[in-house]
Amino acid sequence: MKVEGVAVVTGGASGIGAACCRELSAAGARVVVIDRNLDGAKAVAEEVGGVAYFADVTDDAGMEAVAAKIEAEVGPVAVMIGNAGVLAFPARPFDVSMATWDYINQVDQRGVYLSCVVFGRAMVQRRKGAIVNIASIAGMRSMPIHGYASAKAAVISITQCLATEWGPAGVRVNAVSPGFVQTPALQAAIDKGERDVTLLQANAAMGRTVKMDEIAKAVVFLSSDDASAITGVNLPVDCGWLVTGSWHTYGGLRQPGN
Ligand code: NAI
Repeated sequence: MKVEGVAVVTGGASGIGAACCRELSAAGARVVVIDRNLDGAKAVAEEVGGVAYFADVTDDAGMEAVAAKIEAEVGPVAVMIGNAGVLAFPARPFDVSMATWDYINQVDQRGVYLSCVVFGRAMVQRRKGAIVNIASIAGMRSMPIHGYASAKAAVISITQCLATEWGPAGVRVNAVSPGFVQTPALQAAIDKGERDVTLLQANAAMGRTVKMDEIAKAVVFLSSDDASAITGVNLPVDCGWLVTGSWHTYGGLRQPGN
């Protein structure tokens, strides 16, 4: 798979974003890492021979400015990965403050939409571009992660709406929905006891969590011309977590070999 031109990754300093930077670079892209953690972004950029910029996806003016700066200083942006996000802990609705709910939605929902618009503008003008947003299996099933799950469902909707809006202008917009991936963010939740890694593994058909590069390879595919007729899709990369749920009504998943 080849990706030509400039590829911007939001939240590229860590986890899935950093893996996307590595795989996009390996596919031939000139990678731009943007993150509110500038030191982390610089380290990833150095590793992949790219460049780093500070960006906070909740800052409207800052995002407009960084998009213009990247276009002027690095070149026309061909690919944008809307990955920056924060995880949330499972809690009952009465225990989730509206300030927390708003913050999660500001980053995970509004931040993705804003990233699409500020980088999509020049793509639409040039009539060429590919956007891949990172949603989640949490946006596809109910989960006790109020605020986060609905924000991720919104990312899938945003992806479909912008794909329809910009399809005539030759800009493709797709989403990847990761299953459970042991990134620094998820590992921190496991370490704090907010997630049980045994359950994350056991409830996936393949009996394991997803590796970061497995998400990034799907992202590279959707960014590349190999996916030239694909827009508006949401591709789960989840080791088969989504297909298992209904089996619990029938006594749960079978053991290997049965
Ligand atoms: P991570 O915490 O390892 O990386 C997230 C990056 O986003 C960090 O570098 C952080 O500094 C950056 N970031 C956070 N808020 C930002 C903001 N306002 N502006 C700019 N940068 C910001 O997390 P991870 O796990 O790699 O998550 C990446 C994406 O994947 C998120 O959207 C997350 O919701 C999604 N995801 C993760 C899953 C998992 O199991 N780890 C599962 C499904 C989706």
